Order: sequence, then C-alpha cells, then structure tokens
Amino acid sequence: MNIRTTLVIICFLAISFCESQTIIPIETKDFSMVFKTDAQNRLWNVYFGKKLKNQSDYAEVDKQYYFPDANAGISNSAYTPSGTWNLSEPALMVKHHDGNRSTELLFHDVSKEELDGISVTKIKLLDPVYNLKVVLNYKVWHDLNVVEQWAEIVNNEKGKIELGKYASANLFFTNKDFYLTHFQGEYLREMMPTEEKLTQGIKTVESKLGTRAMLLGTPNFIVSFENPAQEDSGLVMVGQLAWSGNFKIEFDIDSNKNLRVIAGINPYESSYGLQKGERFKTPSLIYSISKSGTGLASRQLHSWAKSHRVLNGNGDRLTLLNNWEATYFDFNENKLSELIKNTKNIGLDLFLLDDGWFGNKYPRNNDDAGLGDWQENKKKLPSGLGYLVKEAEKNDVKFGIWIEPEMVNPESELFKNHPDWVIKQPERSIKLYRNQMVLDLTNPDVQDFVFGVVDDIFTKNPKVAFVKWDCNAVIYNAYSSYLEDKGISQTHIYVDYVQGLYRVLERIRKKYPDVPMMLCSGGGGRADYEFLKYFTEFWPSDNTDPIERIFLQWNYSYFFPAITMDCHVTNWGKQPIKYKVDVASMGKLGFDVDVDHLSKEELEFSKRAIKNYNGFKNLVLHGTQYRLASPYQNPFASVMYVNENKSQAVMFSFLSSNRFIERITKRPIKLKGLNSDKKYSVREINLFQEGEGSLVNPVVYSGDFLMNVGINPEISVKRTSVVLLVDEVK
Ligand code: GLA
Repeated sequence: MNIRTTLVIICFLAISFCESQTIIPIETKDFSMVFKTDAQNRLWNVYFGKKLKNQSDYAEVDKQYYFPDANAGISNSAYTPSGTWNLSEPALMVKHHDGNRSTELLFHDVSKEELDGISVTKIKLLDPVYNLKVVLNYKVWHDLNVVEQWAEIVNNEKGKIELGKYASANLFFTNKDFYLTHFQGEYLREMMPTEEKLTQGIKTVESKLGTRAMLLGTPNFIVSFENPAQEDSGLVMVGQLAWSGNFKIEFDIDSNKNLRVIAGINPYESSYGLQKGERFKTPSLIYSISKSGTGLASRQLHSWAKSHRVLNGNGDRLTLLNNWEATYFDFNENKLSELIKNTKNIGLDLFLLDDGWFGNKYPRNNDDAGLGDWQENKKKLPSGLGYLVKEAEKNDVKFGIWIEPEMVNPESELFKNHPDWVIKQPERSIKLYRNQMVLDLTNPDVQDFVFGVVDDIFTKNPKVAFVKWDCNAVIYNAYSSYLEDKGISQTHIYVDYVQGLYRVLERIRKKYPDVPMMLCSGGGGRADYEFLKYFTEFWPSDNTDPIERIFLQWNYSYFFPAITMDCHVTNWGKQPIKYKVDVASMGKLGFDVDVDHLSKEELEFSKRAIKNYNGFKNLVLHGTQYRLASPYQNPFASVMYVNENKSQAVMFSFLSSNRFIERITKRPIKLKGLNSDKKYSVREINLFQEGEGSLVNPVVYSGDFLMNVGINPEISVKRTSVVLLVDEVK
C-alpha cells in the first residue's frame, strides 16, 4: 500500500503513564500543545511551546508550575465549562434539558487519524451528570505548523438544551509577557493594527454586525510571546476565527499572568437550542505558529491557504477591467461595448460589469432602488446580458458580473412581493444601511432565491466567467418572521443567517465548482477562511488610494496570500499611474478606470505593465511572500515574492511617506528567501518611460550579497515606486 495514502487510525492514542494520568500531545513539526488529565479525569492544558524530543517529558511539565485555583477556579481547562466551581470566563455555557445550568466535563477518550502529513485528533469529553458530549477537534498540518481547531457539542440528554456560549477554542499559555496585535477599523480604514501588551483582565475583539464581520473589528490576531511581534524572530501565533458572522475573541490574562484565549461565535443574542440528539459544530479557529516571527507565520498560513483552503488556491487568476468608477450607474450597451474593447486593447483578461444593470419597475439607477430585482434593465441593456457576453467573446475577453444577492432595497419588486423575506422588526420602523436591508437567509425559500440569482445568470449565460458578490449592509433590527413562524427562538438568527449563506454557497459550488468569485464588501473586506472555501478572492477595501493600499495590503498579508487579494488601479489618490499599477501588482491586478481618459503615455505604460504582470504574476500569486521593509517603521515599504526553487523573484519598493527622504536613498534593503550560493541578475521593470531608470541594466549579485547587504532601489520623491526582477544567472 502506498505509504502516502495510508490511513492510520489510532484509538486511545494517549500516552498513559499511570492509571490516573493521560497525556495527549497535539504536535506540529516544531511545536506541541499538551493536555493532561487529573485524578478526577478533568482535562488540563499543560504545555504550549517547542516540541520536546521525548513525549514522556510532558508528564513533568505541570509540576514545574504552581497555579492555585482558590480564587478563579479553573484557568487551564481544555474547554472551560460553567456553573460549577469554575469562576473564570467559560468556553461553554449550557442550560440542560431540566433547566439546570451547571456543566462539568471529564475526559472520555481520544482518537487520531493521519493522512499525508495531516492529522485530526478528537478528544471526547462527557458530563458525568448529564448526557452531554463535547468533542474537541485538532486538525494539524504538520510541516506547516498550522492548526485548525473546533468543537462539537452533542445533546444526548432527554430533551432540548440551550447553548449560552459555545466557543470554538479555549487556549492556554504560560509566559511572562504577551503582546496582542488586533486589527480594527472603519469604512475605508480597514485592518488597522494596534499592538498592546496584555494586562490582567479580558481584552475582547468582536463583531455584532451580523453580515460584514470585518468592518469594525476583525477576527484576525497576532499573539507574540515575551516581546512585541517581530518579522523575523520570536515566538508568535498568527490566527483567525473562520466565521462570517458575529464573533468574539477574548484574551484573558489571569491573576497568575497566564493567557487564556477563548474564541468563537459571539454569544451576544445568540443562545442556541439543540433538540435531543442534535449536535452543534462550531466554526474553526485557525492559527500558524512560528518561532521566527510573523514572516514565517504568514508564509506557513499562506501555503496552507493556497494548498488546503482557498478555492482554486493554486490556480490562475484573471486580470480585469471593472466599470464601476468609469461609469457608476450611468451606462448603456454602447458604452459597455466600448469598455469591452478597451479591456482587450489594454491587455486585460476580463470585463466586469458592476452595479446598475438590473431592475425595471424600480430601475437601479442609484443605490436607492432595484436591489433584489435581478432582471436586466431593458432601457440600459435592451439586448440583455447575452449580448454583452457575446461582445466580450468577440473581443476575446471574458465577461464577469456584479451581484449583491443577500440584500434588498425597499424600492424593489422583491420587497413589495416578499416583505416577510426581509430581516426587520415587525412593530418598528425599518432602518436602512446604504438604502437597503438584509434578506432573511434563515428561511430556506430565501436560500432558494439567492441560489436562483446565481443559477439563473449561469443558466442563461453559461459563458459568464466571474462573479463579484457584494455585501453592503449590516443586520439592523434582527428579527426573522420565518423563525417566528417555525417556533424557533429569535436568538438563532445570527447563526442561522451565516449557516444559511454557507448552504447557498455549498449549492452554488456543487453546480459551478470552478467559476472564480470575488467576495466584496464596500467596507470591511469581507474575508475569512470559511468564506474562502467558496470564493477565489476578496476585495480588501473600497479605499484604493495606493498609499493606503500599501498599508492595507501589508496588514492583510499577515493572514491572506496575495492570490486572494483583489487590487485595482482606480482614480483614487494623487500618485502617478505607475505607482498605482505597481501597488496593485502585489495582488490580483485589476483596473477600474476609464481607459479613454488615460493619456497616451499612461495607456502605453499600462499596456507594458500588464504584460509585465502576466510575466511575473506566477511569483506574486504562487510564490512565497517576504515582507522586507514595513511602512510603519520606514518612510518606504518593500515586499518581495520568490518562486519555489529560488530562481526568480520580484521586489516592489515604494515611498510611503515624504518624511526623512535623505535617509532612505542612502541605504539598501535586504532581500530574503533567495539561495545565498546562487547568482542573480537584478533589473528594473515597469518604467514609466522605457530606458529611464537607474537600474535598467541588469547587474549580477550573489544571493549572499542580496540577502546580507541588500540592494538600494533608490527610492526618492522622483522615483516613488520601483519594481525589480531578480533572475538566477547560471
Ligand atoms: C460597493 C463595492 C464597489 C461597487 C459598489 C457598487 O461599494 O465595494 O466596488 O461594486 O458597491 O454599488
């Protein structure tokens, strides 16, 4: 039997040292997290750190610590229950079938499956009084030091139970100091990092917005042990809760200076009923652990995402021309046909028709009407979408389309015909967000409708090659008439909404497995690793000012690989087009400008730059990313991407602030990820005027030189962005 496909199932794999002690190590290539039972069979988290050579040593770890439980009860429980003698923040709160609210969890058994370097360990815990089972799951990508963990709660009691809190993960770390970087923001200011030293008490990051989980807070975090997070040194964990709705992550420093992390669906208004025999699977907490700083942690997470998570994560991506900023809602067939021609002329792969193509009784000529009525607007598109798809075909480009199928304007036939399909309070006036409301995806009829929007487009136009799926409202007035009719508690609305959406996406992917889809949200970068099972990419922010994008893309890059990030050249920002194109070339490149308004030189440059992008995109999309110089620490930023065999790389450097110019130009930037024994030629590309740059003629350096001395891209006010191609010379 082929060893790579051998499935090993080891039951009761725990190492038992004596009758009352079970040790369960969860091991990656470099790290381990270890659980141990006590005499009563409770399960404790006793170790997190470098993997020890001998597993038997784990039995001694907890004896080196003294954490009295007199005040707060349990602090290092593997999954902290509530209502008994634990007084610290719980991971699990249950109202049992008889109304009792106390839960205790005892270790029952453990199993492990292993296949191709990926293992799943399942630890079963049981309440000794109630028939409640909790299974803690740890999926480990061994070589990548990436862990995905989630919990399953099974109601085997005599009747219905209520889950008040049902965390995905309950981590525990002992250390002297902990630093947390969390990423918060606002519309146009997404993913702004704040790093702080954690002090006693709970630091919470959360969302209660229902749909756009990433608008204000985000479920992404970096925990650095001992010192503030560094790019190339120190123990760090880079993590994310993969859930597309309300989340809550609590970072709790206890009185002994230990850190507990409790992450999961936000319990806010979300107590969840489980009927007898039902089970609840929580979303996953996903994290990458590195002993060499955030750089390695991100690279591990990127590799994992590309190979194991993101839809078509190792596949190709289409460059595109979007008409949003070129036309907004004001277009017709002729204008669009021109734009389709321009798509070809400038050298892009696909034309993306944005908002405004639908609605007849309530035409979508602005954002205040028509959303929900997904029929072509007969005035703007008398020949229908099919005509545009053909126009694209004629011009040898592909055609993509914008939809926002979860939402509705009150001024729409959909709303007038199905007011009960909309989330709103029955007795209160409606509250709009961007003139729209959210459809009630807890309702299977609404799920059918949303699936139908996509299915209808593809059925009528099988050649549609791309979908931009937008989401521009939060859930206000959370109330579902469907849940009410079914006698289901309103506290299910936030969870059932997200699960309803996943169900729709599951159906879409079953029928249309490969069509690339962009996850968009005007504000908030709606992206997480549950969504990215269904989407190939996401829109990080409506803010496309290239200076802001340098920071935004930098921050997203801690968690997401470049292949997932849609980066468009637009009219935002005062920088020259070269700067804009260079910044957007660090992700999946697109244009959202009126090509006719570009000067002759700008057009010529753009054509060359798109050609260049097609030449090196393999490095950006599929290579390994190294963050070289942070715009937070320098008046410039530099990022590079290297291919797998270290024979080619592309390096982007930008002036990101006008301060301290003198200092910048005088020092080199060290490259990373090359082979020190190889020789490389370094050559500047993407010059606005051919032949004008100081690094135009290739110069050969050793990898050793490039990584230890570095190269000076000569960034200055006159050279605000520089792209260098690094090629092995044999
Ligand atoms: C959001 C998106 C934009 C555009 C508009 C259309 O704001 O982020 O790119 O699609 O919606 O209404």
